[in-house]
Amino acid sequence: MSHVKKGESDYSVMPEMLERWSPYCFDDQPVPGDLLLQCLEATRWAASSYNEQPWYFVLAEKSNPAAFEKMLGCLLEANQVWAKFAGALLIAVSKENFSHNGTPNRAHAYDLGQAVAQLSLQATAVGLHVHQMAGINLSRIRQEYAIPDGYVPQTAIAIGYAATEPMPGQEGLVGRDTKARTRKKIAEYVFSDKWGTSFTTK
Ligand SMILES: Cc1cc2nc3c(=O)[nH]c(=O)nc-3n(C[C@H](O)[C@H](O)[C@H](O)COP(=O)(O)O)c2cc1C
Repeated sequence: MSHVKKGESDYSVMPEMLERWSPYCFDDQPVPGDLLLQCLEATRWAASSYNEQPWYFVLAEKSNPAAFEKMLGCLLEANQVWAKFAGALLIAVSKENFSHNGTPNRAHAYDLGQAVAQLSLQATAVGLHVHQMAGINLSRIRQEYAIPDGYVPQTAIAIGYAATEPMPGQEGLVGRDTKARTRKKIAEYVFSDKWGTSFTTK
């Protein structure tokens, strides 16, 4: 088993794009605080509609077992089985309305997604791995963290080091981490002229 699972690109891209992947086998080590802050710094610099920066995070480090267990309990069980080995967990939240005039921000989840994409790539650049989860218990998160109305929990994020060898309890997860990474071709989702007409360069 390797902690490297590079994608194969058709065209040249920044190395972190191909080196980023979502492991199921984390190595149970904490994430150094300075690296965690670097990853969070990356979220600050994401673009957002009206520069609203509608992203918010709740963070639980492995070094604080009570906080870590509380957040782990907010994931669906299928995610808890592997995410418990991560070094830190985050809940990602977006704010529904603009701060400057209170009107709905149609891009709030989109902007949060960009911030998390930046976090993921920064994590990759410093040797960490990120695994995002939509499989979370929304009502439990709202209750446990007293998330106010107008703020929407969207995902949880496991961050840590990918294991090079499976740890006890991870035997059943190895197959997922060794599976080939697949992607659509650009022509399947980039169109020109009409929807469904693949874009081609001249
Ligand atoms: C918004 C989002 C939600 C996801 N939810 C889950 C999840 O609940 N459980 C899980 O095991 N993986 C989840 N994933 C991970 C995806 O399955 C993974 O990113 C995808 O298979 C591509 O693999 P890669 O990230 O290794 O390239 C999620 C990813 C994203 C971006």
